Amino acid sequence: MQLMVKVFALLQILLVALFPAAHALRRDEFPPEFVFGASTSAYQVEGAANEDGRKPSIWDTFAHATYVNENVGDGDVACDHYHKYKEDVQLMADMGLEAYRFSISWSRLIPGIQPHVTLLHFDLPQTLEDEYEGWLSRRVVEDFTAYADVCFREFGDRVKHWTTVNEANAYAIFGYDVGISPPRRCSPSSLFNCSKGNSSTEPYLAAHHILLAHASAARMYRKKYQAMQHGIIGLNIISFGYLPKTNSTEDVRAAQRARDFNIGWFMDPITFGDYPDTMRKNAGSRLPSFTKKESNLIRNSIDFLGVNFYFSFYVKNNPGNLQNEDRDFIADIAMETERVRREDTAPDEVPITPDIFLGVLHTIKKAYGNIPIYIHENGQQTPHNSSLNDRSRVKFLQGYIGSLVDALRSGLNIKGYFVWSFMDAFELVGGFEISYGLYYIDMNDPNLRRQPKLSAEWYSNFLKGKPMDSKIKEIEKNVLSHDTQLHNAT
Ligand code: FCB
Repeated sequence: MQLMVKVFALLQILLVALFPAAHALRRDEFPPEFVFGASTSAYQVEGAANEDGRKPSIWDTFAHATYVNENVGDGDVACDHYHKYKEDVQLMADMGLEAYRFSISWSRLIPGIQPHVTLLHFDLPQTLEDEYEGWLSRRVVEDFTAYADVCFREFGDRVKHWTTVNEANAYAIFGYDVGISPPRRCSPSSLFNCSKGNSSTEPYLAAHHILLAHASAARMYRKKYQAMQHGIIGLNIISFGYLPKTNSTEDVRAAQRARDFNIGWFMDPITFGDYPDTMRKNAGSRLPSFTKKESNLIRNSIDFLGVNFYFSFYVKNNPGNLQNEDRDFIADIAMETERVRREDTAPDEVPITPDIFLGVLHTIKKAYGNIPIYIHENGQQTPHNSSLNDRSRVKFLQGYIGSLVDALRSGLNIKGYFVWSFMDAFELVGGFEISYGLYYIDMNDPNLRRQPKLSAEWYSNFLKGKPMDSKIKEIEKNVLSHDTQLHNAT
């Protein structure tokens, strides 16, 4: 362990020496076609929950119940983006954002900045959950494809980047294994008190149907629209850094297994037509099988992969987890994890680990080839009413965007980077108490005024090629007045 710590310390020193100093980061170090944007998702920012015929999604049901995130609020009004979208797009244009990643609210159905659109960002219509248990039923494949068809037909003339499902893996794990998010299903043995569910089987089944629904929608896009609309379509997953806790063969294998269960779960079927062997070995028949036809449908069903990145873990082998008969998805990985922390990051913030992030991207390239990748989400978490002077978010962005310069130089096929999130949103874990936004919104302000944080100014200066140092210093001098404004507003 001591040795690992030393190796990491050394690595950090090397990285600091190798990476261009943060203040020297320039937009023109990236190819012109590389895209820089920021992200949101429908339920997290739109509000207008009962307007224009919108029906509830599983997130409305979840947020209105009191079981998990009591007191954290809901997305009924959120940032009122539904009404303020013009003002917000103006802010994006002023900031110099080149792209905006958002999602369409399936249960709502209905120039200048490229829209990167996600079809489903966790908010399945409640009616499909009630009617046939949503992702647990194969019927969702047909319904999702029909929904996607409407979106391609109506918006495909303007949308050139489609993502079918956001964080397909997190959706299955948090909704069906741990039960921390909707549809809040888990076994009675889970820490969360779910009224129904089976953590041994349902995460696998839900993910299986997500893969089939994704592939079916992608096939429809390619057959019916792509030649005419000239867009591309992909799937999004959340990636984690997994580092073996020791260099023993067992821990190294356990870390690889963790990657298989994390990324391989979706990328093995998409690349090779079947789930990873490690998953089959540990989950057995609980992991559904593909017919030849399904496997052909899924193989090569993405034009790009959307990758989100926040946290990393040290992995220790733990075969004991496999002894339990009705073990859940996480136990099937047969590991113990410990969160990677960094001394320069506060405990309630996301550790800044661009070195590990680069490792994840190289691992994906090695395992699945040099497919185009969009970093769809990456961002720093801070307590909501902290400060407009969000230095840790600036440091975070400098670190990660800086690492992308290196990623491109070493031949990784990264096509774009989106900060999560454009503005403070209703966070899926933590509600309005934590925030990731470049813009601050006081949720008690009736006008929900958007106020730029230091990070918004930093990103804007970076995008516009404005000199950074003097600006940052100038802004830092104003920290006091920024903070005073914030306190007056709250
Ligand atoms: C991701 C979600 C996104 C957001 C961030 C913080 O897992 O995709 O909606 O809440 O976490």
